[in-house]
Amino acid sequence: MDKPKVVLGVSGGIAAYKACELLRRFTESGHEVRVVPTASALHFVGAATWSALSGNPVATEVWDDVHEVPHVRIGQHADLVVVAPATADILAKAAHGLADDLLTNTLLTARCPVVFAPAMHTEMWEHPATQENVATLRRRGAVVVEPAVGRLTGVDTGKGRLPDPGEIFEVCRRVLARGAEEPDLEGRHVVVSAGGTREPLDPVRFLGNRSSGKQGYALARTAAARGARVTLVAANTALPDPAGVDVVPVGTAVELREAVLRAAADADAVVMAAAVADFRPAAYAAGKIKKKDDQEPEPIVLVRNPDILAELSAHRARPGQVVVGFAAETDDVLANGRAKLKRKGCDFLVVNEVGESKTFGAEENEAVVLGADGGETPVPHGPKEELAETVWDLVAERLG
Ligand SMILES: Cc1cc2nc3c(=O)[nH]c(=O)nc-3n(C[C@H](O)[C@H](O)[C@H](O)COP(=O)(O)O)c2cc1C
Repeated sequence: MDKPKVVLGVSGGIAAYKACELLRRFTESGHEVRVVPTASALHFVGAATWSALSGNPVATEVWDDVHEVPHVRIGQHADLVVVAPATADILAKAAHGLADDLLTNTLLTARCPVVFAPAMHTEMWEHPATQENVATLRRRGAVVVEPAVGRLTGVDTGKGRLPDPGEIFEVCRRVLARGAEEPDLEGRHVVVSAGGTREPLDPVRFLGNRSSGKQGYALARTAAARGARVTLVAANTALPDPAGVDVVPVGTAVELREAVLRAAADADAVVMAAAVADFRPAAYAAGKIKKKDDQEPEPIVLVRNPDILAELSAHRARPGQVVVGFAAETDDVLANGRAKLKRKGCDFLVVNEVGESKTFGAEENEAVVLGADGGETPVPHGPKEELAETVWDLVAERLG
């Protein structure tokens, strides 16, 4: 099979050096990459780096190798064009169809999916001109990844940072896999919870669980690649923020409930993949609980946590909002799953078997998605992204 052909456009932002890491991810995973930097990008990283890392010639203008008409051919032959970092300037040029260098010509001739990963100062990103350009590009079918929040050039921090190159790569991989298929969650807002809650006993100890958050992150990443605006409520995870996803960190079940209900107010779908503690300690000791040599330890008294999935299902924030739950079971997996689906009142329940070394923290999963209408969709053992895609297929179908 031919290697997928990727055009990596690099424009003149300070984050251009991070595109080297993105380029490596593509080449090391069997993609043929042609890097097309702008003249400004070469102020940050030189042509020699792009050429050596990609194994291909590098040009910024339309006047090199004119007999091969590169201003047309590079775009025509691409399976994916990704511009990372995308400056305010390149977004404006692309939105208005300007074609004054090789990258802008390539963007006009490409008929494959196009991904932009903008990076700039917050003021530039929030300017109405940039926002309108982004809206235009999205309306035309481009995937524009939301910038991350964090440290910017100099002393500034805010929204405008280039997401982790590994996460941009994941978006591109999903977009490439979907090919010319329409991004079916475009215009939708989805909320995903991930990770495991921690219920504190004292300032240093907590009751927790083994959930890593990988399944929830896979759900967030795949929804973003399918065009959704994604809010990821993440409980105690140690994973890089998925590109273009709004991440809300939380600790306890009560905090998770608040964050999910707030985000769900305008959501089309809520997927509760987080492992939420059913109980929490009735009392919280303000100081560390001390060991006393002459006394047995005090028993821990537990109280119930709110049942967030049942609450979301019973009080839908919007008519037609789709609610999906997860059931991690150690035995009688399907029977327990069916009973839980009925009890909770959600639309779908993803039932999987868990154990100390099963599912938690793993890259792969195996599950059955039960539907409130009696449907059963088995998902064979495979990457957590595959299960995530099945969940979004069912959600997208339900949303119509
Ligand atoms: C040090 C420095 C850092 C810059 N960083 C950014 C940036 O992160 N994002 C951006 O949109 N523009 C940034 N600019 C401005 C762009 O380089 C400038 O708009 C340029 O014309 C973009 O050209 P291009 O879009 O053809 O690459 C920066 C400029 C300098 C000098």
